[in-house]
Amino acid sequence: MSEIQSLGYMVLEVSSLENWRSFAAELLGLQIGSCTDTVINLRMDEREQRIQLVQGEKDDLFAIGWEFKNLVDLNQYIETLKSKGVVVNAANEELCLQRKVESLYVCDDINGYTNEFFTGPVYAPISSPFYSSKLIGDGFETGELGLGHALVVARDYQASVDFYTQKLGLKITDYIRDSSVFPGVTVDATFMHTKTGRHHSLATAAMPSAKILQHMMIQVKDLNDVGLAFDRMKAANIPVIMGIGHHPNDKMVSFYIVTPSGFGLEFGFGGIVVDDNDWHVKTYQQLSDWGHEFQIKP
Ligand SMILES: [Fe+2]
Repeated sequence: MSEIQSLGYMVLEVSSLENWRSFAAELLGLQIGSCTDTVINLRMDEREQRIQLVQGEKDDLFAIGWEFKNLVDLNQYIETLKSKGVVVNAANEELCLQRKVESLYVCDDINGYTNEFFTGPVYAPISSPFYSSKLIGDGFETGELGLGHALVVARDYQASVDFYTQKLGLKITDYIRDSSVFPGVTVDATFMHTKTGRHHSLATAAMPSAKILQHMMIQVKDLNDVGLAFDRMKAANIPVIMGIGHHPNDKMVSFYIVTPSGFGLEFGFGGIVVDDNDWHVKTYQQLSDWGHEFQIKP
């Protein structure tokens, strides 16, 4: 079976494009790309979009775009999905144009959003290189590794892990089972990676949540940009979910804040890359090695 290369883009349905516009550009350091009355494309690199904000009431994850190297791989993957009983449909030209990709298929996710499978992302002209008005380092860690990761809330935990691994073909990286965060509750999360090996592109856990998207993560190439972004968040009175800390599994130094849509966003540095030739699945007992002090009870 051909494999998903990376998490290529995310589509977020947001109730206030204006709130997101300033949050994304002035606090996260993303670049505002092309826009319509109902869509803002956020740039993290040379592509036209890595995060697409679509006007709507949900204030939640709408779609994850899984990337394939080429059409041969994509078509082979789609045939395999169909043979496993997954209902998957080719997108129409309008949706391909909106997502700024060459070829696209869609299928419902088990947890209430849409999985999109694509190849051929549109790149910006050379005269319009990525520019962040806030980052001081070399920008965001994207490229082959994709845009970052998402932690989606599982309606049925085991069924979700089965869907992501057995149907979509993601590979398990590790587990965290931490009973120290909340009294009487064990946080139990499964982390999964794609072919290019970002420690996890998708994680899932069962937890009480009004949102499908517990948090999404974007990663910078300079640790100073994590600290500077944290200072910007505090100066703007953005609610902090967890202060700066370090995860034992992906080795990420990060903090978590509340986005204008109410779900979380992790802003990090230093996440490791998995080499499937020499990777052993592990189980960790702590969400964090240090820091990540909860400032809002999730
Ligand atoms: Fe994360």
